[in-house]
Formats: sequence, structure tokens, C-alpha cells
Amino acid sequence: MIRLRSSLSLGFQLPSLHLIFLGYLLLANLVASRREDERTYQKRDYHTLSNADIRKLVESDPPQWDSVTDGHLGKLLIPRASGSENNTLVQNYISSVFINLGWHEEKTPFRGSTPIGDIDFTNLIYTYDPDAARRIILAAHFDSKWFPDFPANQFIGATDSAAPVAMLLHLAEFLTPLLKNRKERIRTGHGLLRDEFDEEEIAGTTIQIVLFDGEEAFKDWTATDSIYGARHLAELWSETYLEPSHPLQLQKRRFAPEPTVLDTVDHLVLLDLLGNKHSMIYSYFRETDWLHTEMASVDGRLRRESLVEVEDGENEWFSTMRLRGGIGDDHLPFLHRGVSILHVISNPFPSVWHTLGDDATVLSLPALRRWDRILRIFTCEYLGLAPDPTSTTTTTFTHKSNPKKSIDELTITNTEL
Ligand SMILES: *[C@@H]1O[C@H](CO)[C@@H](O)[C@H](O)[C@H]1NC(C)=O
Ligand SMILES: [Zn+2]
Repeated sequence: MIRLRSSLSLGFQLPSLHLIFLGYLLLANLVASRREDERTYQKRDYHTLSNADIRKLVESDPPQWDSVTDGHLGKLLIPRASGSENNTLVQNYISSVFINLGWHEEKTPFRGSTPIGDIDFTNLIYTYDPDAARRIILAAHFDSKWFPDFPANQFIGATDSAAPVAMLLHLAEFLTPLLKNRKERIRTGHGLLRDEFDEEEIAGTTIQIVLFDGEEAFKDWTATDSIYGARHLAELWSETYLEPSHPLQLQKRRFAPEPTVLDTVDHLVLLDLLGNKHSMIYSYFRETDWLHTEMASVDGRLRRESLVEVEDGENEWFSTMRLRGGIGDDHLPFLHRGVSILHVISNPFPSVWHTLGDDATVLSLPALRRWDRILRIFTCEYLGLAPDPTSTTTTTFTHKSNPKKSIDELTITNTEL
């Protein structure tokens, strides 16, 4: 699905090598971490939480599943190549989860030409607050790679990318009560206001979860046989101009030539190839080195506070080495249009990559829970969300009060899967 793009930071472009990524084939140059550099590139606030608040957030949402196939993940672990009936079933399942949570849904169906003929693709886009001026996008692809023959066509893609999609569903469930309560505080004039922290202003950035269809190549990974959904969406958004009444327009910022939907994206965080025991995450872009450092710091704090289970040899998941070059994936058409990217992808790829071995057996429950918590705390800090000041007396988390009747179970009963 993915190949390595090699380039050196001297501005010198290696002749296109068409390297299929092979684990350790890291030609990109390594740059030592320099926090001073990172501050230069930081363009937005980030609201680091206290350890006490992190603990409160984590403990407000105990794990509700005891096996990797419980809950959402179990619904996603089927062959689901683009254009297949199973792909539609998975779309419907994802949709039911977000509709139950009350998020805004947008689907972008389109027909694409592939080496095996025309295929119908659909990207799924969920936004907590569609009226917000800006957003952070968290994204993953929900299709699995197509193979022509049995048994290869039973490929599940557990890490690629069923597990990342499940993490995003868990994230949405976790954030919804926090976001709702903040919205209610702001609506009733009780938004928190202290020092530099103005909740109403911070809420101008919302979260959007994008699930891409058609990430996988049908034959060999090329510019035209890969990332069908991402290419379609980046192009669509680059041609979608903001209404004059859009809050970004009202801020009278200058855009050239006219602001599009892409201008409302502060960062795109793309998850891929996660959920097995081992992860190693590098930063690929100077502009988001600081954001990578923030995510690494979340993991470090969770570990030090014993709020995640660390498996043998898995202490460090985030490298302080900077890799320039990058790995081909759904972010590319957005990167090329100037969107800031954080690419959270295991490097080297899991050893089972694109084999039948990438099924439920390669997933690790402690690793999945650790990723869930990293993403929850990271997103809370990004969005300026803290534990609710009145969480014991409001409706926050009441759906969690009976762990056996979580949103997971509620949505499963509503779907065809
Ligand atoms: C659809 O998913 C089921 C499992 O629910 C699987 O047995 C079947 O092979 C899949 N169909 C295709 C065409 O991949
Ligand atoms: Zn893949």
C-alpha cells in the first residue's frame, strides 16, 4: 500500500526510486531533535493537562472490552475491500456509531477508475461542531486491501487499518460528553475563563474524524493506483470556497486567492498500521515536530503515572530522531496542498503487513488501550478539554455508569452487522 519517498533535506531529490518499503530501508536522513527549532514552527496553543486531570480523564472511562474482538473492532475485522458489500456494511456500522453520538455526517461517494475497473468509493466525514471556524482532523482508512484469489482475499488488515478506525470511534465516544458539556457551558454563559484560557475562543476549533475509502492499491502502489478517497477529498476541498459568512472569513485573515475548506484544517493527524504490540513513531515534517513531541509527551506521562500497561520492550513508542522524506499514505494530497500533517504510522511496518497474518491474532489489548489513552489525552490537550468541573452532578459519563451497557453495545444492536 505504501512506498517510501526518499528525499534529502538539501533540496536534492533522489531519482524516483520506487522503493517498496521494506522494514529497515530507511534512506531518509536522520536529524537530531531540537526543541528550539520546534517552537519556531508551533503555530497554535496546546493546553498541557496536569497529571491529576489526566488521571481523572483516564479513570472516567475504564476499558469496556476484554478481548481485541469486543466492541467496535470486532465489527471492523472482516475483509472490506473498496466497492464490496462488506465495505458498505462497515460504512453503515461506522455511520451508526457517529449518528448515535450526534456528530454531523458527510459522505462523499464517487466512482473511480482502477486497474480492475470502475469502483464506487465513499469517504466518511464526521464533525462534532460543523459551525466551528477551524478543526483538527484525525483520520484513518477503513478499506482493506483487495486480493483477487482465495485465500489471500480473506485479508483482514487488523492493523491496516481496522484498529486505527476503532481507536477513532473510541475517541469520539470519549470526547462527546466533554464536548457537549463545554458547549452547554458556553451556551449558558458559563464558559471557563482564566489567565490566557478562554473556553469560548478555544471551542472555535472542533474535531473532525475522516475515514478514507480506497487507500489501498488494487495492483501495485502508484500515484494513480492508491489513496483514491484521499485524492478525491483533497481535491474536492481545495475547490470548495468558504461562504462569506464563514467565521474564518469574518476574522478578515488574508488568503490567496480565496479561502477554501482546506484553510480550516489546522492539522491532519493520520493513523495507520497500529494496534500490534510494537509501535515506533517518527516525526516526518519539521512543521509538526512539536506536535509529535506533544504526543510523545502524553505517552511518557501516561507511562510514568502507570495509566497504561507497557508490554516488555515497549517503553519507547516515539522516537526523538526526525526522519525527513516520509511514507506514502492518505496524507499526501493534503500535504501537497499545504495542510500540516502528523503521520502516526509504525516504522518499520508490522511484520505481517499485507499478509493474512494481519488479523485479530496480531493485535495486542494493552497496546490498543495504550493508543486509546494517548489519543484521548492528546486530543483533549489539543482542543483545550479538561475533566468536567461538575462531572459528578451532570449527565457527563452517565452512559458509562453501567460498563456492561456501553455505547458499544447500544450501537451494535442497531446495526446489520
Ligand atoms: C465478508 O465478510 C465475511 C465475514 O463477515 C467473510 O466471511 C466474507 O468472505 C466477506 N466477503 C468478501 C467478499 O470478502
Ligand atoms: Zn495496507
